[in-house]
Amino acid sequence: MRDRTLERNQSWLEWRDFGASQPEGGGIRRSRISGLARTASSDVRKGGWLAAVSRSFAHSGSPIRILELGTCLGSGGDYLLAGAPDGSHYVGMEGSRELAGWTAERLAVHAVAEKTVEMHPGPFEKTLPVLISEAQPFDVVFLDGFHEGKQLEEQWDALQPLLNPQTWVVVDDIRWSRDMHASWLRLTQKEGVLALDLFRMGVLKSGARRPQHEPLRTKWRERA
Ligand SMILES: C[S@@+](CC[C@H](N)C(=O)[O-])C[C@H]1O[C@@H](n2cnc3c(N)ncnc32)[C@H](O)[C@@H]1O
Repeated sequence: MRDRTLERNQSWLEWRDFGASQPEGGGIRRSRISGLARTASSDVRKGGWLAAVSRSFAHSGSPIRILELGTCLGSGGDYLLAGAPDGSHYVGMEGSRELAGWTAERLAVHAVAEKTVEMHPGPFEKTLPVLISEAQPFDVVFLDGFHEGKQLEEQWDALQPLLNPQTWVVVDDIRWSRDMHASWLRLTQKEGVLALDLFRMGVLKSGARRPQHEPLRTKWRERA
């Protein structure tokens, strides 16, 4: 949920960034918590969609498994868990140990509804193969780490053992760049993939028993 205390927190955080523009092994950055909360975290609108995706499993009454790639301060995870049925389990992957710690602390509040949190700090290149080898499927996957098309498509391929026909895969910032948008479109055109274009993010489900179709909106628009 929206956390205004983070948006007002002026303290500095030193963290290792494994993002696209950083050197191998990550680069050290210094950011204000308020800045990360405002610029790198899911806002209320995105959060509403994330919570709705988790809530779509409410009818079953069964706990779900959620995976988030790139947790930052835990905003997305908070929304995902808020919509999830009691007893659900969340796995967060975050390059920066400092940010992973913030996420774990923030999400601990969901323990009251017996929702559990497991954080995997470290670069995806190291943490993801281990998770994938465990082959335990997730119901909701939120891809919000690397914002590069090539990585998005590679992650989609690599994550296949963790998806089942019910899994919703939420892709953030599908219009971040031409390259991200082109990759998003390629994913929507894969056989059996159902795609929902929410403009700032997109949602995919593979294994849908539906004919291939065009997503709702497909046009590229330059960001203002
Ligand atoms: C946009 S922020 C995530 C925001 C968060 N999902 C939310 O909803 O509030 C992207 C995060 O991905 C992490 N990240 C980027 N590249 C990564 C990589 N290769 N391995 C691990 N973490 C990475 C960054 O450290 C950053 O915290």
